[in-house]
Amino acid sequence: MAYVIGVDLGTSGTKTVLFDETGRTIASHTVEYPMYQPKNGYAEQDPADWREAAFATIRAVMDKSGIPADAVKAIGLSGQMHGLVMLDKDGEVIRRSIIWCDQRTAAECAEITEKVGAARLIEITANPALTGFTAGKILWVRNNEPENYARCRHILLPKDYVRYCLTGEFATEVSDASGMQLLDIPGRCWSDEVLAKLDIDRDLLARVYESPEVTGQLTAAAAARCGLKAGTPVVGGAGDNAAAAVGTGVVRDGRAFTTIGTSGVVFAHTSGITIDPKGRVHTFCCAVPGAWHVMGVTQGAGLSLKWFRDNFCENEKAAAALMGVDPYYLMDKAALESSIGANRLLYLPYLMGERTPHLDPNARGVFFGLSAMHTRRDMLRAVMEGVTYSLRDCVEVFREMGVSVSDMMACGGGGTSPVWRQMLADLYACPVKTVDSKEGPALGVAILAAVGAGIYPSVPEACDAVIHTANVQDPSEKNIPEYEKYYQLYRTIYPALRDRFAALAALD
Ligand code: XUL
Repeated sequence: MAYVIGVDLGTSGTKTVLFDETGRTIASHTVEYPMYQPKNGYAEQDPADWREAAFATIRAVMDKSGIPADAVKAIGLSGQMHGLVMLDKDGEVIRRSIIWCDQRTAAECAEITEKVGAARLIEITANPALTGFTAGKILWVRNNEPENYARCRHILLPKDYVRYCLTGEFATEVSDASGMQLLDIPGRCWSDEVLAKLDIDRDLLARVYESPEVTGQLTAAAAARCGLKAGTPVVGGAGDNAAAAVGTGVVRDGRAFTTIGTSGVVFAHTSGITIDPKGRVHTFCCAVPGAWHVMGVTQGAGLSLKWFRDNFCENEKAAAALMGVDPYYLMDKAALESSIGANRLLYLPYLMGERTPHLDPNARGVFFGLSAMHTRRDMLRAVMEGVTYSLRDCVEVFREMGVSVSDMMACGGGGTSPVWRQMLADLYACPVKTVDSKEGPALGVAILAAVGAGIYPSVPEACDAVIHTANVQDPSEKNIPEYEKYYQLYRTIYPALRDRFAALAALD
């Protein structure tokens, strides 16, 4: 039996999973690390923490499993996207990484739009200038820490820094590079035009591979630390969402997934490239060579329910502790005691501003229609429905772009809730499925590793062999028109409030 390893470098920790070639989990280990917020809106992490977590978790899965080092045929890397790692001429980290959720680059985004041109930027990089993306972070260091910029010889993404530590190679792959705002997304290569207009030296950037390609081999020193064989291949891997797509079998047209984590993502595979000229959804290269994906992001998805749990669900939390169950399980039951439309109460989930479809950092949460007859149960249900309406907004943009979705997978913490999955099925009007493996991105990059090692001939064929559907929830013919009435009303609330949100943000 052959084995592969998937390393998933997340924001709260790195999780490494050892799989056999059929996708069965053999051993898993997670190491957590901190996020630093030196100022409001700043978010940084220490690349040394990522490096140590990668070494420690790989070593741990090898020790736990007891399989021989030469049975591991390849490693795949997945990771949080967009983070900036700068190295000096000796390969040493220059400063902490400015990561994806850092919002300090508004001025640099304006600079990028001005230098490249708003329409041209979307044509090449498939996205408007966004504060989370890497190019703005590079310009921020140049504008604010010129001494650090002057020392910089290599720019890497988080998982690609770990690759450098494992293999000594400066390499990236198309799906993660797509989030740097420097890649020509249709051409799947660095954009000389954008680099020239932003005056960024191409030599700073890593070599770009397709996701299942072998990018290097474990060095003897790294192999000794990991308990693996020197020369073990490391494949390109993928950004976390592109990796989750492979790990849920979303690798053909018509297939999509919704993940409800802190934020919510709706992701659809497209074999041809489609770009929203308004930039409301991201278009990125996907992990299947020669294909792309579109991706809508709702900022406050699971976050909304967590906010509600932490502020209004003391009873459920206490009861759950006594019963030894998760509070979300009891909250699911409570939401079912209300009804569709939460007794005419709507919720806008914009606690952290919104990306898709409004691209408005000033938007904020709203309960609309609150009456003295409403209970906490109605409010809870309204929160779950409001998040689902905002995910439906993403699907509406896909439909406008001609991207059709016939097969929807659900994943992330929220995807484990049958109540939420039924809401998704009813609002998307299509079946919503889950897969039996819960490993998502780690499984996705392990599949890419298996393809890179020659165990499977292609990513879709590997997914056919490895991914199994666990559960299907069909839409209810009765519920669809009920939800539709509320969704159509929901869509009209943000436009009516847009300038009020701006006025609120302008108050001291
Ligand atoms: C994608 C995005 C997040 C990060 C962190 O655009 O910002 O999914 O990759 O998980």
